Amino acid sequence: MIGVSFYLVAASTIRLVGDSLFEDTIRSGMTSVSELSAVLGEHIGGESADAFYQRLLSAARSGGGRLLVVDMDGKVQFDTFDEQCGTRLSLGEVHTLLRGERESDYGFHLMDGAGREQAASVLDPITRRDVSRIWMGCFASALISEGERAGALVLVLSVQDTVDSLTFVQDRMLGVFALALVGVMLLAALISRIVTRPVKELSAGIERMSRGDYSRRVHVPGKGEMAQLAAAFNQMSEQVHNLDEARNQFVSNASHELKTPLATIKILVESMIYQDDMPPELRREFLGDINKEIDRLSSVVGDLLTLVHIDSHKLRLRREMMVFSDTVRETVSRLSPLAKKRGQEIAVSIEDECEMFADPGKLAQVCYNIIENGIKYTPDGGKITVSLHRMGRDAVLEISDTGVGIPQEDLPHVFDRFYRVDKARSRDTGGTGLGLSIVQQIIRLHAGSVTVQSERGKGTTFTVQLPVK
Ligand SMILES: Nc1ncnc2c1ncn2[C@@H]1O[C@H](COP(=O)(O)OP(=O)(O)O)[C@@H](O)[C@H]1O
Ligand SMILES: [Mg+2]
Repeated sequence: MIGVSFYLVAASTIRLVGDSLFEDTIRSGMTSVSELSAVLGEHIGGESADAFYQRLLSAARSGGGRLLVVDMDGKVQFDTFDEQCGTRLSLGEVHTLLRGERESDYGFHLMDGAGREQAASVLDPITRRDVSRIWMGCFASALISEGERAGALVLVLSVQDTVDSLTFVQDRMLGVFALALVGVMLLAALISRIVTRPVKELSAGIERMSRGDYSRRVHVPGKGEMAQLAAAFNQMSEQVHNLDEARNQFVSNASHELKTPLATIKILVESMIYQDDMPPELRREFLGDINKEIDRLSSVVGDLLTLVHIDSHKLRLRREMMVFSDTVRETVSRLSPLAKKRGQEIAVSIEDECEMFADPGKLAQVCYNIIENGIKYTPDGGKITVSLHRMGRDAVLEISDTGVGIPQEDLPHVFDRFYRVDKARSRDTGGTGLGLSIVQQIIRLHAGSVTVQSERGKGTTFTVQLPVK
């Protein structure tokens, strides 16, 4: 494409230069022959042939060319070179003149050394530098004597200089264009290399990623579109990497959570099998322990199922018009036996009933998880405060306790799956570390937010903010 367009530009430029060069030559040739024919026409019949010939010779000398006078039959009457007298000129431009079609005309002819004409065009760029052949320009003008057409005056000039300079210009231009073409081609090759390299790099990265290697990043320097694309790709592959790791972590945590109660059950059951003489009280205690572990297993499995549902976007909210304060009160009354057992007080303060369009079951789970945590992580005799009020278009639920608190460095992680601040204590209290992550997911589905504030040893406050629709 580039080559073809360069060729077209080169050819048309040469054509333009040629045209303008020859225009000058034609104009000056035509002017001199017209002027000469006007002067000579007056003398053609009025003086002797000798005197006319002398006049013609001096005109040719001053004009710098060869002059021929042709009669109406096309026969040469006078030739300042004295070679063609009596012969017939077969020049097209002379014949159009003699036929009376035009007053003046011109033509260019390639002559060989012997002066014979050869068929060719002056703009043929192929004919050049052959010294035996030269380009001649023939300019003819009608000779008018006493109002009658008496013949034609032909001025023959060498136009080889013009052709030579055209050839020279043409050579130069072809050279320049060839050079420019090579330059442009090199540049195009370079640019396409620069453009394709990042594409190659990116596609290699994508290939690696599809093979499961998420660790490597692609490097595309600069700020262009490709660099942006590479940055986006890197970001994506990092996210996939994190997701992949989170999934592995989740599976291993979940297996661990299931394995521990199973191992405990196995030990208890085995000791019951191999100890035939086990006292009935101990047997009952073991069975009670097994029952607890089974409860734990089923609660872990329940939590896992909820999370998996939320993750796979299968969990749909069953929204209905509900009164949030009722849900809070019900949850508190469900949990108060647990608090009573530990000598704790649950204070409820409801400023606004907070009627809203939400999923009452899911919000009950939110309340349950947070209040249960408050009870679990507050020493005996502590206090849990539950308050509900409205702030603008939001319902705000605050659950505070006077418990152990959460260390500052653990605060950002309490909503992570399986995250527990104190692993050993949490196990005693039956925690899996899934409760708060479920809370966060449910609140997110409701387009709300949940935050935590805590001071070690003093207590913790969870704040849930939900839009009231
Ligand atoms: N009210 C609280 N006071 C102190 N620590 C808390 C409180 N609520 C949650 N935490 C900490 O956050 C962790 C995550 O809580 P959660 O996801 O409910 O898991 P779990 O209750 O099963 O341990 C808990 O293990 C506990 O360390
Ligand atoms: Mg919990």
